[in-house]
Amino acid sequence: MSVLITGAAEVVTGDPALGAGPAGVLERGAVVVEGEQVVWVGPQSQAPAADSVIDLGGATLIPGFVDSHSHLVFAGDRSHEFTARMAGEPYDGGGIGVSVSATRAASDDELRALVARRIDEMRRSGTTTVEIKSGYGLSVEDEERSLRIAREFTEETTFLGAHVVPPEAREAGESGRDAYLELVTGPMLQACAPYAKWIDVFCEPNSPHAFTEEDSRRVLEAGRAAGLGMRVHGNQLGHGPGVRLAVELGAASVDHCTYLSDSDIEALAGAAGTTVATLLPGVEFSTRSPYPDARRLLEAGVSIALASDCNPGTCYTSSMPFVIALAVREMGLTVAEALLAATQGSARALRRSDVGRVAVGCRADLAVVDARSHEHLAYRPGMAITRALDLASPVA
Ligand code: NIG
Ligand code: FE
Repeated sequence: MSVLITGAAEVVTGDPALGAGPAGVLERGAVVVEGEQVVWVGPQSQAPAADSVIDLGGATLIPGFVDSHSHLVFAGDRSHEFTARMAGEPYDGGGIGVSVSATRAASDDELRALVARRIDEMRRSGTTTVEIKSGYGLSVEDEERSLRIAREFTEETTFLGAHVVPPEAREAGESGRDAYLELVTGPMLQACAPYAKWIDVFCEPNSPHAFTEEDSRRVLEAGRAAGLGMRVHGNQLGHGPGVRLAVELGAASVDHCTYLSDSDIEALAGAAGTTVATLLPGVEFSTRSPYPDARRLLEAGVSIALASDCNPGTCYTSSMPFVIALAVREMGLTVAEALLAATQGSARALRRSDVGRVAVGCRADLAVVDARSHEHLAYRPGMAITRALDLASPVA
């Protein structure tokens, strides 16, 4: 069953060979989809016939967003923490404990319903691939069920038992901390690995709740030995070892990168084929932090991605159009560069080449912007003009 998608003012292919500029923008382009795959992309005037037609009526077709960093499995509410931060309170990761208590108290069905609702919100703003981390269970049982539930929604699941040292372990002082690291790298990892593709760690010596370079290395190496790919939360609250460690170990991505030294940028540029710098401007927005200079990273040759980091503490939005608007307004990217970072760049951060582009052989994960060009993604911030395209029941 083939579908011809026509009537697009633009198709942003992500392939410079198929259209103009780095994002390969094809004016009056068309796409043919067969089953779950793109089988043809080109000018509408040359489009082949198909079994059915979707007419976009002058809208823009883009690759669905790849949100390579989210924490969707949580219960509870921390809106007061956001309000306090807007009044000047700093973020140090201490609020994570509040989400851990609420998540532990929720039933499987409650957590499943919360994740389903958040995924639905994502699709309604154009996201078609999502990575989901655990990290609000922090016991063997609660981390395992967080990942089991996340796996019902995506293959891109990440074990983040090393999010923070949980309150009960912190109360026991240094020995509690050591015992927790033993647990994370031993029985918890064993229980979680069957449901996880990746391991992640909050490597942040600037937070009393998170992990040092040495702890983080231990966590990542244990994950790697268990067959998981590596990701790192690094350089979020201040300068630190996260980026260096991610590059040294060949992690797929180091996320946040809010505070980068010259040598961090040099290291990331040297590792551009391996380690992606994933920028999360929604976090800078929601924590009143400085925005990193994405243009400088691009010019240095760093491979960059944009993701939401949707979580109850530092950024409770999953809107990739909002993330793109921030990257353009605050981080020096063009709209095309930001869109590439939110699709192909974030696909690379997940080591995926089957999503993030509108190209023959890729998955037909597409999104529509109700506007005549992709520039409207940032030009019309906060407007609900972007959604994932449902090929079975398109709303053109
Ligand atoms: O990516 N920094 C660590 N983890 C999350 C926030 C977690 C929270 O505050 O609930 C982040 O920003
Ligand atoms: Fe995060």
